[in-house]
Amino acid sequence: MRIIGTGSALPKKIVTNQMLSEFLDTSDEWITTRTGIKSRHVISDEKIEDLGVEAVTKALEMSGLGVKDIDLFIVSNVVSEQVTPGMSCVVAEKIGLSCPMFDINCACPGFVYALDMAEAYYKAGKVRNVLIACIEEPSRMPSWNDRSTCVLFGDGAGAVVLTEGDNIKGTKLNAQPDTDKLYMTRTLEPTPFVTKAETSIPLQMKGREVFRFAVEACTHGVKSLLDEVGIKKEDVSWFMVHQANKRIIDSIIDFMQVPAERFPINIQERGNSSSASCPILLDECNRKGMFKKGDIIVLSAFGAGLLSGAAVLEW
Ligand code: COA
Repeated sequence: MRIIGTGSALPKKIVTNQMLSEFLDTSDEWITTRTGIKSRHVISDEKIEDLGVEAVTKALEMSGLGVKDIDLFIVSNVVSEQVTPGMSCVVAEKIGLSCPMFDINCACPGFVYALDMAEAYYKAGKVRNVLIACIEEPSRMPSWNDRSTCVLFGDGAGAVVLTEGDNIKGTKLNAQPDTDKLYMTRTLEPTPFVTKAETSIPLQMKGREVFRFAVEACTHGVKSLLDEVGIKKEDVSWFMVHQANKRIIDSIIDFMQVPAERFPINIQERGNSSSASCPILLDECNRKGMFKKGDIIVLSAFGAGLLSGAAVLEW
């Protein structure tokens, strides 16, 4: 497939590190040094699905396609107020889209997983045009009394439209199931029959272990994918890495030994927006005119699961 449209949308509320330090025992210096984040956009009075609508509308406009042309709609979403129907149905109703659709919950690498699925449907001859949207509000997952997690996240939506083409050169997904390093639980409605204890636990994270996993999953995943498709790292124009932490990205750059200029970043002003991070970055770079026809772009993302994935495509 080939990407012919990108779009993104952010909540209007910007929360700076300084604002966080007014109610948390933290500082701009600590957050900037450990994460590279200076501010993030977080949901206030918006509904996350409306940001999803804005992102897909922009992507469709750029692509020149209309809702009637889309054969499959994949939405990546980890949490939202809506439990059922899925976020794909909520967004589709608002834009008048009625093709087959489903939601996936693959945490931060959701965009790469969705690209892999779109390509598989395309290669199976089932679709010509696919719309992917990553619509995420991770700011609603941690406790806002927990300084070690809540400072990391920002919300937003990113979308792409794909059509026929052989521009996706390869994808590689990886799983190392371990639900102890990064997780959140919530209770369901009680019934007369449930006797086990259930609790709602806000996002819990073993930061250092997740950090190590992220660096290793990205460097190994990208290297093995590039080897598989026969592309040298020197020939990659852009490495679009999940924006979780600037220090994670710096470590990846060190291990991979490629110039830092080829790693666009927006983490300073976005924070970690889960699976929306890669398509938001892609859209922002695209709209700045950074990509030329023929550019090789690597996408790599990692997160809860522990899941990771990489994709290589030609622009
Ligand atoms: N402000 C000030 N101090 C903080 C803080 C904050 N926001 N958050 C944690 N601290 C404190 C800790 O309480 C600890 O204090 P102590 O030494 O008195 O116990 C100290 O800072 C060091 O904490 P530690 O967790 O060891 O720091 P770290 O260097 O590992 O950095 C992360 C923490 C979360 C920034 C880092 O581990 C990380 O980025 N991990 C990956 C997270 C990630 O990207 N997750 C999503 C993946 S998709």
